[in-house]
Amino acid sequence: MVFLGIDVSTTATKALLMNNNGQVIAVTSTTYPFETPHPLWSEQHPDLWWEGAQHSIRGVLAQSGVDAAQVAGVGLTGQMHGLVLLDAAGEVLRPAILWNDQRTQAQCDEIHRRIGRQRFIQITGNVALTGFTAPKILWVKENEPGIYARAAHILLPKDYVRLKLTGEYAMDKADGAGTVLMDLQKRAWSEETLAALDIPRAWLPPLYEGPEITGRLTSEAARATGLLPGTPVMAGGGDQAAQAVGVGAVAPGIVALTVGTSGVVFATTPSALIEPAGRLHAFCHAAPGRWHFMGVMLSAAGSLQWYRDTLAPEMSFDSLLKEAEESPAGSGGLQFLPYLSGERTPHPDPLARGAFIGLTVRHTRAHMTRAVLEGVAFGLKDSFTLIQNAGLGAITQVRASGGGTKSALWRQILASVLEAELATVNTTEAAAYGAALLAGVGAGAWPDVETACSAIIQITGRLRPEPAQVEQYRRSYRVYRELYPALKASFEKM
Ligand code: XUL
Repeated sequence: MVFLGIDVSTTATKALLMNNNGQVIAVTSTTYPFETPHPLWSEQHPDLWWEGAQHSIRGVLAQSGVDAAQVAGVGLTGQMHGLVLLDAAGEVLRPAILWNDQRTQAQCDEIHRRIGRQRFIQITGNVALTGFTAPKILWVKENEPGIYARAAHILLPKDYVRLKLTGEYAMDKADGAGTVLMDLQKRAWSEETLAALDIPRAWLPPLYEGPEITGRLTSEAARATGLLPGTPVMAGGGDQAAQAVGVGAVAPGIVALTVGTSGVVFATTPSALIEPAGRLHAFCHAAPGRWHFMGVMLSAAGSLQWYRDTLAPEMSFDSLLKEAEESPAGSGGLQFLPYLSGERTPHPDPLARGAFIGLTVRHTRAHMTRAVLEGVAFGLKDSFTLIQNAGLGAITQVRASGGGTKSALWRQILASVLEAELATVNTTEAAAYGAALLAGVGAGAWPDVETACSAIIQITGRLRPEPAQVEQYRRSYRVYRELYPALKASFEKM
């Protein structure tokens, strides 16, 4: 028995095969771009995901030599919040509006006006933020009425791939909560929210818990992918919830820290807890009957990527990071604000901007690189502190994953800034791995998600804060905290 996890991310669709001991047999990836046709916009055509999925599934079967008959379940995960609008025949009506699109501030304000900000937080667990799905639906209604008039189905990115695989319209509850159209406590669509926003209930698909079967492969999809007709496709979860499953962050006390394009601090909650001011996201977990808090930074490793591509394209990441070790902790007083794509947590502000602050003639590229790593760590500490203060009880462990945590220097900076021990685990491609694990639970390989995680996910390393750095970072962080409030009004004018 093997399980297939498919991750429909912003930059690639990946396919990962896992055996029933949790070992990864093979991973393949098909990359694609996304478009930014106007400032604040971010879009991608759903065809890219389906083509990517077909290519990656065929690739992973060929690479591993696994017989399709052994695949006992497919689990889906992917970028959250993207609006996929389809007509009654399931045809795509416009490019998907992605999670990092920032065009909908007016619609967010309108949602709060119609429902009441506090009431909206009470129902959905969240404030309406530009990246979430609901305001995007209102934006299309106002700005593209011709398209809106033809709409009949709303899906999230990975669920478009599910439709192509199974012919079924379906969604998992973790990703569903990220539309902010759900009643968080009931784990169901919120009739009150849908009515207030005039969104037809019939447009939304049925919701499932992560390991539940949502449909089976059609003959057409089987021909396209090399899988067998009838193979079950499980609900899976939005990428952050699946990633948390993939590192074993499914019980309260274990925090998942992800430093990918975006940066995430994720904590499981035993009930539908809400941060009263809505400063943290509160969504359903992909583990049935669990919820989670999450703080999201929009440009984490994305900041380093931009920095390298723009200022040192001839350098490899390794050599740039090696050079950064020459700079002392605190980067000689240089600060970097990572708000290159606006920000979500703790400053929900599409107009926030990135910045280097405090440059002097004595600063070198080593200082600048290190300032980027530290600025991202400080931004993640903002979310970490909100989670520490959210009444969840003690955080006993932080499990780090994502491309950024491959750097030993960045891991050490994160441990010292967060003042927490960072654990690394034996899983890579955690979102796809988590999706495969959810499929495994759905196929009966393990009785539940927690049992599966404890059986197959192991700690491979632990890193403690460095006392000498901790003092310096406390001082630097105090300055960092002052910078956004001081610059907010200027960002708006810019
Ligand atoms: C989570 C979020 C991002 C995307 C990235 O709320 O918006 O992490 O899911 O793929």
